[in-house]
Amino acid sequence: MIEKDFIYDYSYNLIDKGNVKAKCSSNIALIKYWGKYDPQLPANPSISYTLTDSFTETELRFEKSEKLSVQVYLGEEFQEKFSQRIEKYFHSIKSYLPFIDQYSYTIHTQNSFPHSSGIASSASGFGAIAQCLMKMSELLGESEPEFQVAKASFLARLGSGSACRSIYNGLVVWGEHSDIPDSSDLYAVPFPFEVAPVFKEMQDTILLIHEGQKEISSSVGHGLMNNHPYAKARFAEAGKNLTDLIKILQTGDLKAFGQMVEHEALTLHAMMMTSQPAFILMKPATLATIDKIWKFRKETGAHLYFTLDAGANMHLLYPEKEKGLIFSFVNNDLLKYTENGKLLVDRVFY
Ligand code: DP6
Repeated sequence: MIEKDFIYDYSYNLIDKGNVKAKCSSNIALIKYWGKYDPQLPANPSISYTLTDSFTETELRFEKSEKLSVQVYLGEEFQEKFSQRIEKYFHSIKSYLPFIDQYSYTIHTQNSFPHSSGIASSASGFGAIAQCLMKMSELLGESEPEFQVAKASFLARLGSGSACRSIYNGLVVWGEHSDIPDSSDLYAVPFPFEVAPVFKEMQDTILLIHEGQKEISSSVGHGLMNNHPYAKARFAEAGKNLTDLIKILQTGDLKAFGQMVEHEALTLHAMMMTSQPAFILMKPATLATIDKIWKFRKETGAHLYFTLDAGANMHLLYPEKEKGLIFSFVNNDLLKYTENGKLLVDRVFY
């Protein structure tokens, strides 16, 4: 599908008001999207796991109106900044949903994870809003069920790049890649090959090492890759890493999986450290945790691996059957590195 396929040029049956609901999970990237160009297209392909227990639930109420306006509530609290951001976003997607500016909207949204946890609420948040919009579009007459999921991913991407991956469960690829049939920069697709059973039951325990607002906005972060001295090599390597990971996921090679995801996480942070201006988003506790994990792995042979997003928190990935050993290690040796003794226990959504 190309961009033109998402432009809606049929008539809608405008109803006076209504409401729709959606629930969308967050995701954790194994191969990172870092670097983009207009209109929110990725500089390299990425792949992520959608999570089970970190999600956003959203209700969108709409009512016919002379003027588009959006009011967003997180729980009971009105969110002025989010409201403005979503209003701007709604204006920007008018050619895909031509009815959008004929309504005013009230959005109630809730995350299953704390706002301060550094879990990307923009992925599940925009994922849920895009799903709501497609449900609304369906109520108003748009009807092509299969295409609608791709369009939800397409619309989510325009809100936040990584959100387009959250539309699907399991492993999800975003960005054109010659080894992934039908992959696209415009929307995400489910990983199309059979995956070894061990990778369908991976656990993700998130150590909240630093709670609070992000120190770097995602747009500023991606912008650091413009004119970055290592950008070209990084974008090429991400593509090659995906080729390798495709095989790893099929063969069930946990060790190679771990090497790859840790390399990707450290590369992401290396890109930030070597950009101008430079950012160091890892905290001393992040480094201490990495050191502990590497030692633990050497001593026990356990398949415990970490990945990081653009922040200090650690995602610990490990297979279900090693849960017992790893959980006691996390509680005894890693919990002390978290800011408030907090962690989130999650698993991949298969
Ligand atoms: C480090 O999707 O938050 O989590 O497109 O500007 O909204 P925008 O960026 P965003 O970037 C996520 C970057 C990452 C890696 C990833 O999820 O692939």
